[in-house]
Amino acid sequence: MTEIKFRTPLVSDAHSIHKLVRDNKPLDENSLYLYVLLCHHFSDTCVVAEHDSKVIGFLSAFVSPKTSDTLFVWQAAVDAKFRNQGIAKELVFSALSQTGPSVRYVEATVTPSNTASLKFLQNFAAELDAEFKKKPLFSSEILGKDHEQEDLVRIGPIQKNLLEVTA
Ligand SMILES: CC(C)(COP(=O)(O)OP(=O)(O)OC[C@H]1O[C@@H](n2cnc3c(N)ncnc32)[C@H](O)[C@@H]1OP(=O)(O)O)[C@@H](O)C(=O)NCCC(=O)NCCS
Repeated sequence: MTEIKFRTPLVSDAHSIHKLVRDNKPLDENSLYLYVLLCHHFSDTCVVAEHDSKVIGFLSAFVSPKTSDTLFVWQAAVDAKFRNQGIAKELVFSALSQTGPSVRYVEATVTPSNTASLKFLQNFAAELDAEFKKKPLFSSEILGKDHEQEDLVRIGPIQKNLLEVTA
């Protein structure tokens, strides 16, 4: 794989992350301030991928306030030039390895048409030999007519010791 560095985001990365998300459809656009908050308050569970000192990938995630054994992955974005090299999968590995031992599940929502998104999560689960489940979560009626439904993916339980082996 190309020389890519995975690291926790800094507040000074928020502009680059905001631009990366805006440039990588079909991600929802959020305000710059949202990414400043993520980089400040959620830097322990969010990850950036850097190439030549440029942010080329980003994963936002947080430990679910409802289920403390679960890392919820929100947005994943990889610059088009760097796709299909396993960077999104590595971003999830990196985020999960930053969590404590009690976090043994990963959840994410995927839209049915986003094959790449589903595939990188399947690859992540397969590499850890973890169960992969998918079921409908939010319908278009809830998300608005211009938004496809979001299915919930749940992966786990994950043997955290395997993260060191696969890293
Ligand atoms: C989704 C996204 C983050 C994946 O990033 P990535 O670094 O390319 O992901 P990975 O390389 O880890 O895995 C992608 C997998 O999907 C596969 N894939 C990509 N496009 C595909 C398609 N159209 N049909 C089938 N498989 C596809 C790749 O071949 C790869 O699988 P493989 O390694 O088994 O061959 C990236 O495509 C992206 O930024 N998309 C735009 C934003 C987005 O949709 N984000 C996700 C919603 S939050």
